[in-house]
Amino acid sequence: MNQRTPLIAGNWKMYKTIGQATDAARRLVDAAGGVTHTEVMIAPAFTALSAVSAILADSDIYMGAQNMFWASEGAFTGEISASMLTDVGCRHVIIGHSERRHLFGESDDLIAQKVKAALDADLIPVLCVGETDSERETKKTFSILDKQVKSGLKGLILEAGREPVIAYEPVWAIGTGKTAQPGQVDEVHSYLRDLIARQFGEAIAGTIRILYGGSVKPENISVLMSLQDVDGALVGGASLDPEIFTRIINF
Ligand code: 13P
Repeated sequence: MNQRTPLIAGNWKMYKTIGQATDAARRLVDAAGGVTHTEVMIAPAFTALSAVSAILADSDIYMGAQNMFWASEGAFTGEISASMLTDVGCRHVIIGHSERRHLFGESDDLIAQKVKAALDADLIPVLCVGETDSERETKKTFSILDKQVKSGLKGLILEAGREPVIAYEPVWAIGTGKTAQPGQVDEVHSYLRDLIARQFGEAIAGTIRILYGGSVKPENISVLMSLQDVDGALVGGASLDPEIFTRIINF
């Protein structure tokens, strides 16, 4: 463990109706609403944000969104702006998740515009990066991460206390039950922190939080959190059940 306050975040993806989301949020508030050893965030689907926000209001659990568009408003059918997210009570927004990159064709340039718009609106972007199975096998992991981080944060001037969060999510570990080995996570996270130091200086590299995501479960969270450069987790499937997610929060 290091000096940075960890963040355990739950990405609920396209799961839960409003009723199911509010029920889960209530159970999470009961079980973990007053946690102090870590920050906690859940990212429900857009339709549930308003109702979940009301439930989280008196707790220490933050709410995030799973995506946004970069423009502040306009004729962009089906999109959601950063100010709409702050308005509904979001503090974070997940940007560039591998499902957005691979299923919806989001480019590094589009992702960079979203990260900038989020920061401008005082939202904390959680920028997701990660290599595919074949990129790892062909030894392209670091060049891919280099490109995703550099282009995702292109042109930004980062201020301490207002840094984005980075989430390393190897695509081959998402939803597969195949967690990256501690050695692989350690190697990538320390690479990412060095990269941030070169781009933005040692101070930002010392405070920026780098989360791991990909088949995180109660059984593997402690080992992951013991790694020097791991500052939390972005949890998919195991965040859907409040009891299981609480066991992860209490790593
Ligand atoms: P799983 O935890 O289900 O592997 O999903 C990880 C993820 O994509 C979180 O954003």
